[in-house]
Parts: sequence; C-alpha cells; structure tokens
Amino acid sequence: GRLGTGRAHGKAILLGEHAVVYGAPALAVPVPQLTAVAKARRAGGDGGDEISFAIAGLESPEVTSLPTDGLQHLVTEFRQRAAVTEPMRVDVLVDCAIPQGRGLGSSAACARAAVLALADAFDRRLDAATVFDLVQTSENVAHGRASGIDALATGATAPLIFRNGVGRELPVAMAGTARTARRSDPAGFDAVLVIADSGVSGSTRDAVELLRGAFERSPRTRDEFVSRVTSLTEAAAHDLLQGRVADFGARLTENHRLLREVGISTGRIDRMVDAALAAGSPGAKISGGGLGGCMIALARDRRESAAVVRSVQQAGAVRTWAVPMGRFAGH
Ligand code: PMV
Repeated sequence: GRLGTGRAHGKAILLGEHAVVYGAPALAVPVPQLTAVAKARRAGGDGGDEISFAIAGLESPEVTSLPTDGLQHLVTEFRQRAAVTEPMRVDVLVDCAIPQGRGLGSSAACARAAVLALADAFDRRLDAATVFDLVQTSENVAHGRASGIDALATGATAPLIFRNGVGRELPVAMAGTARTARRSDPAGFDAVLVIADSGVSGSTRDAVELLRGAFERSPRTRDEFVSRVTSLTEAAAHDLLQGRVADFGARLTENHRLLREVGISTGRIDRMVDAALAAGSPGAKISGGGLGGCMIALARDRRESAAVVRSVQQAGAVRTWAVPMGRFAGH
C-alpha cells in the first residue's frame, strides 16, 4: 500500500482568547517544537472501506478529549472534498507529542497531520482552505463550535492574527519555522516566549460556557471585555511588528488582568504570572481556554528566559517550553 505522511505543530494564543469568540481579533504563535506526525498507510486488497485510527504518544490516555470521533468525521469529509471514489482502506497513526487539555492545540494538530497524511496517501493536492475546513470538521466535533484559530495556527509559520474566521500571518520571522529568515542582523535581541504548564487540565468547552452564561446575564460586561481585548490585541500586533518588546509585554499582562476579572484564571496560574513578572519578564498571562492549562511569559533573551523558568517552576509550573521568537521585530 502507499504510505502518506503529514505533520503539524502546537500553538499558543498570545492575546485575544475568549474575546475572539465574540468577534475580537486574537494573536497566536506556532510552537514548532511540539509536533504531531501522522502516517496513513493504504491497505491492499479490494474489500470495502476499512478505516482505523490510533493516536500514540499521549501521556494521559485517560483524557477523554481524544479527537478520534472528530477524525472519523474528517475521513468521511475527506472522501467528499478530495473526490475519492475507490474504497477507503487505510490505517492512520498519529504520533502526538503535544500535551492535551493545555490550550496547546493538540486536537487541531492531530487533525491537520491526519488530513495531510491522507492527502499524501491518496495523491490529492488540497488547497489551504480545504485543509482548514477538514481540520475544522474534526475540531467542531471535539470542541463544539471552535473559532478556527487552532486549525490555522497549527499550520502557521509565523505569528498569526485571526478575526471572524480569517487569519493573516504577520511578517515576523520565527526560529524553527519554514520562514525563518537568515540572521542578517545578529545585533537584534532574541525574544523568547516561555510557556509553562500549570499541571491542571482546563476544559475550553467549560470555560466558553462559563463566559456565555456570565455575558448573557451582563451584556455590558461582555461589551467592555470584547472592546478592551480588541484594542489590546490590535496594539500588540503593532508592537510585535515594530519590535516594542516592553509595550508588547505590558499588553499581555493587561490581557491577563481582564481574563482574571471574568473568572477564567486559577490561583496557581495567577501565582505563576506574578512569579514571571518578579523574575523580570516584560509581560505574562494565562493562555488559551483557561480554568487551568498554561501561562505564557515573554523574556527579552535566553538569560532572562532561564530566570523566568526557574521562577515559574517555584510557583508550581510542572513543565516549561521556551519558544524562540526570533528577532522581535518585523521587516
Ligand atoms: O484551544 P485553546 O484552549 O487554546 O483555546 C481556544 C480559544 C478560545 O477562544 C477560548 C475558544 C475558541 O474557539 O477560540
């Protein structure tokens, strides 16, 4: 049989989570060191459809948000969109090194890797919009209604600004991605994004529901939250393009304050944010769905990121990742 492969990576939301559900923009970055790799092997013989799925590499098999239901839908949809007429006899194996339930995009990355592996195995060229739709088919099953930011960010090669279903990659080079620019100016500072896991799995679905209820009771709270986050995210995108690392950091911390106010942070995450700031980080916040999950903290260089990592570990982080942001400036 023919073997197809596909890969995708994790993501972190920098600003705008939750507000993006109500039409605000959000900013996300790819996390290239967290990968999902899929292999799709077509079986020989000429029986009918025979589709199997396995997901390996997951550290917590008891987690129930395994996206296998979504992946089943994805195959059905793939057959239609890719106009496959022959029987689908295929084994799909996804090796996922992205922790689940931490807002790091594991379900979207698994789905994206599977779509690309299927397309490769069946010799189909899918355009970006079709890949996005197929990943969303799976995401909508796994998460209810997903905004689509994960479906895009898990395939992005640069920071991405996303609003109302439409994403645009910013012209900022990031280390470890396909678009990494050659370092022509080694004098530029190297910002690092520290991602720290609180060790608590947060349900994005529960968090979105919590806010829906609160916002129904108080539309004014919703309008204020959405308009403040909108201004912060738009300003932060400009800071990123202009290389204003201190301003960018301050917007992260302000967005954290707004998310904490509406109730989706946790005590441990708040302590981790304070610990990062105390270690000199220009800005830190909860990231993703919340009610647990991860926090992110900006560091101006490697040395600062090491200090931030030590500090958030003391505050309860169970593991950390350092994502090089490249030169913190656009072109
Ligand atoms: O997938 P997560 O946990 O990073 O969070 C998704 C972001 C939300 O805005 C909370 C929901 C969404 O669909 O955009």
